Amino acid sequence: KYQGEATMESTFIMIKPDGVQRGLIGEIISRFEKKGFYLKAMKFITVERSFAEKHYADLATKPFFGGLVEYIISGPVVAMVWEGKDVVATGRRIIGATRPWEASPGTIRGDFAVEVGRNVIHGSDAVESAQKEIALWFPEGVSEWKSQMHPWIYE
Ligand code: PPS
Repeated sequence: KYQGEATMESTFIMIKPDGVQRGLIGEIISRFEKKGFYLKAMKFITVERSFAEKHYADLATKPFFGGLVEYIISGPVVAMVWEGKDVVATGRRIIGATRPWEASPGTIRGDFAVEVGRNVIHGSDAVESAQKEIALWFPEGVSEWKSQMHPWIYE
């Protein structure tokens, strides 16, 4: 069992096609790793239109929905599950504001994006949506393992 297991949670993070094409995979993974979060699952995939529409189903009535779906299916993405204390909210802070012009320097979008329609990365916005997104993207489940660094990150 983990120390502090009660406060552990998981989030779904996706590097979008622009992040992949621009060679930002390593940089992005590095930021989450260095923080002390654990990479629990990862896959490199190009998703079908119907899958992207399912992932963004809550946005189906938005005027940008069509463009958002086209963008997400335009090339491979990196889908990941990251684990850690408060990783959903903290992951969103590492990513920065949805609109890159509002994202602080030092965040991923603040450092690497200018357009909302090319904002490099997705992160779940709540624990509940994280659970739904992890189930959608990783129906095979997520393997259990324990980081050797754990006692150096958690008291
Ligand atoms: S909204 O309008 O408040 O519901 O949108 P928001 O919650 O801020 O963002 C939800 C996701 O939609 C993406 N988005 C856009 N994509 C393309 N064009 C425009 N104009 C646009 N506005 C919002 C935004 O990046 C969010 O996607 P994820 O993948 O969750 O970051």
